[in-house]
Amino acid sequence: MNRTFEHEILKEIKERWSPRAFSEEKINKEDLIAVIEAAHYAPSCFNEQPWRFIIAYEEEDLKIMRSVLTEKNQLWANKAPVLILILSCKYFSANKKGNSWNKFDAGTAWGFLSLEAQRRGLITHAMGGFDAEKARKDLKIPDEYDIIAAVAFGKMGNINSLGESFRKNEQPGIRKSVEEIIFNVDSFK
Ligand SMILES: Cc1cc2nc3c(=O)[nH]c(=O)nc-3n(C[C@H](O)[C@H](O)[C@H](O)COP(=O)(O)O)c2cc1C
Repeated sequence: MNRTFEHEILKEIKERWSPRAFSEEKINKEDLIAVIEAAHYAPSCFNEQPWRFIIAYEEEDLKIMRSVLTEKNQLWANKAPVLILILSCKYFSANKKGNSWNKFDAGTAWGFLSLEAQRRGLITHAMGGFDAEKARKDLKIPDEYDIIAAVAFGKMGNINSLGESFRKNEQPGIRKSVEEIIFNVDSFK
């Protein structure tokens, strides 16, 4: 089944998807820093900018980052030339009170990152499949940060490099209809 669009929306939103067939080719650092810059122009509650990005680009860092991914994700994500771990600070810096919106804001930043990557002809794939406890321990991540997601980032590779089970799902995810996700103010009454 193909994606369908009823309206003219941003090209990058239409075209972005989450491939698993990564090329092992390195990406340049300019592209890497540019997508982080895009991410950090996301809006956030009180402009707190709770997002943080641990970036693995060099081989020794990639080894550590790969080891926190689930085995299933490692099967394809090990090829990605960049792995990013997205953290989010749980507290407001001004008063140290809990920031209930920190994950919401970190998610917005990931969205911006993925769209800028798409604009640059690069691919991203977010992963919730990782061992957060191991990541916290091995990367010595302080308690004040939630560990939100890992992201594989790089260039599109060859679909034939994937195992059969991944290959058959290697296509843009489809969506519910827009009607299914819009409610009226009295819908739950
Ligand atoms: C927070 C988050 C966690 C995800 N976790 C995984 C994962 O662990 N492994 C995986 O292969 N894909 C993972 N995905 C990718 C989703 O399955 C994918 O985005 C979804 O099926 C929609 O497809 P699309 O991105 O191609 O539109 C994750 C995506 C997000 C945003």
